[in-house]
Amino acid sequence: MSHSHEKIEKNVGLMAVLIAVAVSFGGLAQIVPLMFQAEAIQPLPGVKPYPALQLAGRDIYVREGCYNCHSQMIRTLRFETERYGHYSLAGESVYDRPFQWGSKRTGPDLARVGGRYSDDWHRVHLIDPRAVVPESNMPKFPWLADARVDGELVRNKMIALRRLGDPYTQADIDGAPEAIGEHTELDALVAYLQALGRHAPRGN
Ligand code: HEC
Repeated sequence: MSHSHEKIEKNVGLMAVLIAVAVSFGGLAQIVPLMFQAEAIQPLPGVKPYPALQLAGRDIYVREGCYNCHSQMIRTLRFETERYGHYSLAGESVYDRPFQWGSKRTGPDLARVGGRYSDDWHRVHLIDPRAVVPESNMPKFPWLADARVDGELVRNKMIALRRLGDPYTQADIDGAPEAIGEHTELDALVAYLQALGRHAPRGN
């Protein structure tokens, strides 16, 4: 036994191969169970794939880089739950691809912002944040009010998401261009923001 170990220690090539084997087993043991766990997470009651307009709004949120200043992840700390509401749960973001949790907070966390302000407040705030929050350093996004959302494109995105497993019905998909209609990117983004955190548990 001691003799065979000596052989490994004196042979760098063999040692390297055996180290690689040991490390891969360790990695597999950690990573593979997580892959199956991700599929096992159930959406919270009421959490459904994003309706067409909100889905378009979510993509605008990603495109404009809102995540550079806003997280959507309330941590399990008292001062966070007192400020924002119940801490974030995995079952809220099963249909978020990619998720927007983040940790960078130049502005406040947005995980529970739905319903906190009126649609009009959001419109004014996105076009010119300083019109409603004078000390704000959030950039203006005035072009959103002039750009129309492409309903056909949203329909195709829903088909792609259904392939990935999101339970869109054929009626959801066929109805997308009509749901989008003449809406602007600003309408879509506000619809998305107003839906954030609506299915979160109540209280802290
Ligand atoms: C450069 C950083 C920055 C970027 C980029 C940014 N924000 Fe903000 N945001 C802030 C700051 C700072 C505040 C707090 C002051 C205020 O309300 O304007 C804020 C506040 C907000 C609020 C109000 C939150 C609350 O609870 O009061 C919303 C909603 C919001 N931002 C949405 C967005 C969206 C949507 C985008 C992308 C289109 C975006 N922000 C991009 C910095 C940013």
